[in-house]
Amino acid sequence: MILITGATGTIGRELVRHLAAEGVPVRALTRDPARLADRPGVQVVPGDFADPGSLARAADGVSAVFLLSTGPGLPAHDEAMVRAAVGAGVRRLVKLSTMVTDEPALRLAAWHRPGEAAVRESGLDWTVLRPSTFASNALQWAGPIRAGRPVANLSGTGTQGFVDPVDVAAVAAAALTGGGHGGRTYTLTGPDLLTVPDQAAVLAGVLGRPVRTEDVPPERAREYLLGGGTPPEWVDLILEGSGYVAAGGVAVLTDDVATVLGRPPRSFREWAERHRSAFG
Ligand SMILES: NC(=O)c1ccc[n+]([C@@H]2O[C@H](COP(=O)([O-])OP(=O)(O)OC[C@H]3O[C@@H](n4cnc5c(N)ncnc54)[C@H](OP(=O)(O)O)[C@@H]3O)[C@@H](O)[C@H]2O)c1
Repeated sequence: MILITGATGTIGRELVRHLAAEGVPVRALTRDPARLADRPGVQVVPGDFADPGSLARAADGVSAVFLLSTGPGLPAHDEAMVRAAVGAGVRRLVKLSTMVTDEPALRLAAWHRPGEAAVRESGLDWTVLRPSTFASNALQWAGPIRAGRPVANLSGTGTQGFVDPVDVAAVAAAALTGGGHGGRTYTLTGPDLLTVPDQAAVLAGVLGRPVRTEDVPPERAREYLLGGGTPPEWVDLILEGSGYVAAGGVAVLTDDVATVLGRPPRSFREWAERHRSAFG
């Protein structure tokens, strides 16, 4: 039995789908089990990273745990889940981190570093996954694109190796169920380095109509994000990240997806083709 945390989110949903399709017994943790009512064959358990008892119950009888959390509570969530996994006698632990975790100045990195350390020091068979930006983040442009408005570019000419969540989930599944991934840290990217205008051009090609971009310079970015409804507690994190991308900090491609899966990573175009309907 494999416990999937973050099971209702972008990566977790894909991972539950992937493992269930392979016939692997899966237990999915969520604060709201009704959100996973549509998953026959998947054991859904209520749980909250803030409630250690719920984590101990979720980890009972489990051989491996996929650890994914988000938000400012992330360091405490990760440490609580690692403690519960160790206490329950779990053998294997796979943590979803981020590509920038070694960057000392970024607060996103500070969110993930304690969890990475806890996983490495757990004494369990661990794997850390450090993905680049998810291709699926482009879904935030669905509204503007449907309305014919430009999409905002906060990262200038900075490029990123956008990774498909399906590939992240496939690598996670391999690390949870296969051999040879213990003690490994994988940096997961797609096959191409793209700017936001490059992504817009791909989407325009897939949708068959123009997709415009609008540069939002750093001095206007805060006002732009707050005006667009970004929760205030996320604004600084996003501004830091955009600045880091603009400066070329994540202009990196790796072979790790191909090494683990034995096939090349999926491109942003493939992601866009699968999600064409979201853009109208
Ligand atoms: N987006 C990117 O481009 C990107 C790139 C690299 C790395 N990452 C990392 O990926 C992670 C986010 O992954 P995602 O996009 O798949 O997540 P997501 O879609 O934002 O979903 C978040 C998940 O976390 C669960 N969760 C949140 N608080 C919880 C709590 N207190 N107790 C139990 N579960 C809780 C939620 O479950 P319920 O609400 O159902 O309880 C949900 O399943 C973050 O660690 C982020 O740093 C993201």
